[in-house]
Amino acid sequence: MTTERTLCVVKPNAVKDNNIGAIIKMLEDAGLKVVGLKMTRLSTDKVEAFYAEHVGKPFFDGLKEFMTSGKVVAMVLEGDDAIAVCRKVMGATNPEKADEGTIRKLYAASMTENAVHGSDAPESAAREIAFYFDNFSIL
Ligand code: RTP
Ligand code: MG
Repeated sequence: MTTERTLCVVKPNAVKDNNIGAIIKMLEDAGLKVVGLKMTRLSTDKVEAFYAEHVGKPFFDGLKEFMTSGKVVAMVLEGDDAIAVCRKVMGATNPEKADEGTIRKLYAASMTENAVHGSDAPESAAREIAFYFDNFSIL
């Protein structure tokens, strides 16, 4: 097992629904440590930069509208296999396909408004952590 860091973002629907604490608790209970944390609001430009791989896809306009609709909470999580552990606790992108007890099964409203983001590989984790946090914000 490798100690890794990953970026997790609580998306606007989950912030509005008062589920920030419940989501962090599920990630902590899975053995992950919060080593960076912030609330912010994304501009359209920031969403285009963060989700660059999805620009131009049919769902992108809806994703952009959703991700700029309210505040988000970004966190850096550390632990053994943190990237995979976080994705497992999150559940499938489509909440209808998410396993029972996962964040998306419990707190997603739809495929777009699916409560959380989690990095999907070491390279994207490094890029995404640097997108939200400077070196002074992470212990
Ligand atoms: P994320 O990047 O947010 O952690 O989600 P993911 O890896 O599970 O899914 P990804 O394919 O990277 O898609 C990014 C986000 O775009 C929205 N989406 N909507 N309506 C749709 O067909 C659709 N497909 C994707 C979701 O918010 C998804 O999390
Ligand atoms: Mg993704």
